[in-house]
Amino acid sequence: MVYETMVIIISCTKSMIITILILIIFCAVLINGANVKSSSSIGTKGQWQLLFHNSGVVSMHMALTNRNTVIMFDQTGAGQSGYKLRKRYNGTRCTTSHNDLVDPTCYAHSVEYDIAANKVRPLRLDTDTWCSSGSFLSNGTLLQTGGYGNRAKSIRFCRPCGGGGGKNLTCGWIQSKKTLFDERRYASSQILAEHDRVVVVGGRNVFTYEYVPKINHEEKSFALPFLHQTNDKNSGGNNLYPFLHLSSDGNLFIFANRDSILLNARRNRVIKTFPRIPGHGSRNYPSSGSSVMLPLHHKDKFQKVEVMVCGGSTTGAFRAANKGMFLEGLRSCGRMVITGNHHKWNMEYMPQPRLLHDMLILPTGQILIINGAKHGCAGFDNARNASLEPYLYNPKKIFGKRFKVLKSTSIARMHHSSATLLPDGRVLVGGGNPHPRYIFRNVAYPTELRLQAFVPHYMDKRYQNKRPMNLTIEYGNQIGYGKEFRVKFMVVKKGQISNNTVTFSAYAPPFTTHAFGMNQRMLKLRCKRMDVSKNGSVNAILEAPPSSFVAPSGYYLLTVVNAGIPSISQWIRFTHNG
Ligand SMILES: *[C@@H]1O[C@H](CO)[C@@H](O)[C@H](O)[C@H]1NC(C)=O
Ligand SMILES: *[C@@H]1O[C@H](CO)[C@@H](O)[C@H](O)[C@H]1NC(C)=O
Ligand SMILES: *[C@@H]1O[C@H](CO)[C@@H](O)[C@H](O)[C@H]1NC(C)=O
Ligand SMILES: *[C@@H]1O[C@H](CO)[C@@H](O)[C@H](O)[C@H]1NC(C)=O
Ligand SMILES: *[C@@H]1O[C@H](CO)[C@@H](O)[C@H](O)[C@H]1NC(C)=O
Ligand SMILES: *[C@@H]1O[C@H](CO)[C@@H](O)[C@H](O)[C@H]1NC(C)=O
Ligand SMILES: *[C@@H]1O[C@H](CO)[C@@H](O)[C@H](O)[C@H]1NC(C)=O
Repeated sequence: MVYETMVIIISCTKSMIITILILIIFCAVLINGANVKSSSSIGTKGQWQLLFHNSGVVSMHMALTNRNTVIMFDQTGAGQSGYKLRKRYNGTRCTTSHNDLVDPTCYAHSVEYDIAANKVRPLRLDTDTWCSSGSFLSNGTLLQTGGYGNRAKSIRFCRPCGGGGGKNLTCGWIQSKKTLFDERRYASSQILAEHDRVVVVGGRNVFTYEYVPKINHEEKSFALPFLHQTNDKNSGGNNLYPFLHLSSDGNLFIFANRDSILLNARRNRVIKTFPRIPGHGSRNYPSSGSSVMLPLHHKDKFQKVEVMVCGGSTTGAFRAANKGMFLEGLRSCGRMVITGNHHKWNMEYMPQPRLLHDMLILPTGQILIINGAKHGCAGFDNARNASLEPYLYNPKKIFGKRFKVLKSTSIARMHHSSATLLPDGRVLVGGGNPHPRYIFRNVAYPTELRLQAFVPHYMDKRYQNKRPMNLTIEYGNQIGYGKEFRVKFMVVKKGQISNNTVTFSAYAPPFTTHAFGMNQRMLKLRCKRMDVSKNGSVNAILEAPPSSFVAPSGYYLLTVVNAGIPSISQWIRFTHNG
């Protein structure tokens, strides 16, 4: 963004005085947000950038698209958002009359954020997406499921626009004519190994799961008694937005409340019941801990799968919050290998209790824990004591030394906030609104429309010698499973790189909402050959993942990481027929 501004200033010098003045004012507005000093002052704990004072819409739901934009949306029922439209989508003008000021159709409820331009533009969204779920299909279109009220059975597509934007009619939201079999609010979805088939699990008082699309018209939903058993009726559920992870054998790991199972989705049979995670509390909404699948590795053909569940709320937190008491959240994290035959939760402790947070896999394979609070639980005005410092979790360090506390922000990110990794290595952070509408005054935690980026330590300039640059991937439109492909990149000096220091990661970005990143997945790919020239240019032959069981077909971010320092990522597409 600072760079953009400079370009504008340079072009200013070539223009007339008036234009200069206008542009300077424009530039001032543009820079207004940036509080990052420079990329050489990031230090070891990271840095925060303020990107926007008003992103228009609370990013309750957030997803990075393969066109380098981020789709953000909340609920049409929230009424007046921070983005007033000049015209309704049906073409009529939105005036300043009282009627129009309170008409929700005069406000945007979904925006697409263009990362490079640092701009948002509204996307037409007519039906209520509140508390919905999403998965990217293999062509990069978001399949979004569920919602609120009479839209709880909705199926929508969102086709990313990219920088083109404007009046592009082939992108944006499309309401499907098909619907879900059951109503799904607070359900989770996961793309499966089968081509473009998604499973949607749970929802408030809905103890079933179902597939989209259905194999035939007769296909209904499937009962899942596990969801009934894990439902804390008097505490808001504590099993909503179940954590889903697709295991390397194609089976689905489902975690709800404190328990977890492995579901064979082809036979619709529960094939494993895992031990209960220790701790006096729950992990799923409204207790709202989070979960991540640790990176899969080519060394064991991507077979070993380990999940990590962190934080959540104490038993009784929901009822206490309704009486204005905010109980301390859970500090514990559990790690468990879900493949093989031996299953045990290995427990460790975060520096502080945490809930309502997001867990993201960074290109380095480390886990970033960001956003959230220390007391209470999810829901309207149910939490206190924002967690302002992200944590970095390094799975490779010895037990007891894995958490590091990072640079704190001054902006609370409570209920209905979200975060996602960007291709340049930063982490986009948005939202937070523990209220049914947009409220900016006289509440403990006002509606938060500021958009930030957390800039991890690895972006510091002092690592420039190690950073792989100018990454290009040589492939057609897509790469078939198990196929070889070539990547080229450069390092400043030849001596800064060897095939012992480099790793290659492929990352499926999540659909993030309510503290869970659906479909987030990282694979450490095999490098078959790597040649380093004297001038520092590197040629590497990589091998695509062997099957859609370990990597469902679709777009992934490919990153070269040299001695812990990642390149800028580039998109790559793995498919059945490449
Ligand atoms: C457009 O939408 C507004 C608000 O819903 C409605 O009052 C108006 O009649 C609509 N106009 C047309 C031409 O559809
Ligand atoms: C992607 O596939 C879906 C489902 O088949 C389809 O609805 C959508 O239009 C496709 N998107 C693009 C960009 O081709
Ligand atoms: C419009 O959007 C489609 C789908 O994302 C994209 O393929 C096309 O290039 C866009 N057109 C313009 C002019 O940006
Ligand atoms: C939590 O916030 C309250 C004020 O809302 C404060 O009194 C209390 O000390 C805080 N507790 C912790 C552990 O930060
Ligand atoms: C490599 O990337 C750097 C920084 O992004 C850029 O300045 C440079 O022009 C690129 N070099 C080539 C050969 O593309
Ligand atoms: C790694 O480097 C060694 C020595 O430079 C070489 O023999 C080996 O083939 C390389 N491995 C790969 C995967 O490039
Ligand atoms: C570096 O050297 C290789 C051959 O050793 C050559 O193909 C490549 O173009 C060179 N790159 C640059 C940026 O000079």
